[in-house]
Amino acid sequence: GKVAVLLGGNSAEREVSLRSGQAVLNALQNSGIDAIAFDPQSRSLWELKELNVERVFIALHGRGGEDGTVQGALEFMNLPYTGSNVLGSALAMDKVRCKHLFKSAGLSTAPYTVVDAKKGFDAAAIMGEFKKVMVKPSHEGSSIGMAQASTAQELEDALANAFKFDNQVLVEQWITGREFTVTVLGDEVQPVIEMTTPNGFYDYQAKYQSNTTQYHCPADLSEQDTKYLQAISLDAFDLVGASGWGRVDAMQDEHGNFYLLEVNTVPGMTEKSLVPMAAKANGATFEQLVVRILEQTL
Ligand code: DAL
Ligand code: MG
Repeated sequence: GKVAVLLGGNSAEREVSLRSGQAVLNALQNSGIDAIAFDPQSRSLWELKELNVERVFIALHGRGGEDGTVQGALEFMNLPYTGSNVLGSALAMDKVRCKHLFKSAGLSTAPYTVVDAKKGFDAAAIMGEFKKVMVKPSHEGSSIGMAQASTAQELEDALANAFKFDNQVLVEQWITGREFTVTVLGDEVQPVIEMTTPNGFYDYQAKYQSNTTQYHCPADLSEQDTKYLQAISLDAFDLVGASGWGRVDAMQDEHGNFYLLEVNTVPGMTEKSLVPMAAKANGATFEQLVVRILEQTL
């Protein structure tokens, strides 16, 4: 039956999603699958029925696509879709609630506090406690709205910017060290990737625009560290109720300790993206990867 690739949408990650979705669409068509592109920003999801679509590949990133809303609508329409269900999608999109879950489950994650736009905050007290922080809107992806801060003034500026995207903002202890990501396909973890960038962190520019970002796959880690990182990543993925496919981001500090950052339930699928890189290191072409994700809907 016909497959619709949902792409675009109206989140801050629209441009990334257009790229992911186009790559997925090409891969499906190259594999001989009857697939169409469908942008829910410009049409009603109900048209999927009129178009005789039977399965949906969700390539939407961010709010309104990765957060359970579209998943709920598709459930209601009885249309099978790729990736996590409503609960897993909604939880993974909520960085603050993920941190609460990681902490309560004893999974290693950086110390943090939460700032609500509607309540006050004491920037000096936060900086007194953490010294250096990373500020993240709770419900964004691709590092949108994120900034680092080392002074109360920098924190106030970072929060003012983050509040443009979200009323709830996560303020995390800064971790100095290495950045990794672990891809999950079905129940299997893929080879670990390490990202290095001359930017202060792996930000939007480093992710999608830079030529200076470097990727190491498989990452240069001991076998023991690799296994450990893959295991806690799978734990985090399961804990938030994610399923099908996704990507878990983590850091390692100078002492060798790992810290979970977050779970992505619709990771980027652009040419520069990480999941295709990990799958390739495991022997799968981009087409094989996309078809394998789609097969979860059968
Ligand atoms: N949020 C972006 C698309 C990612 O995680 O790859
Ligand atoms: Mg994310």
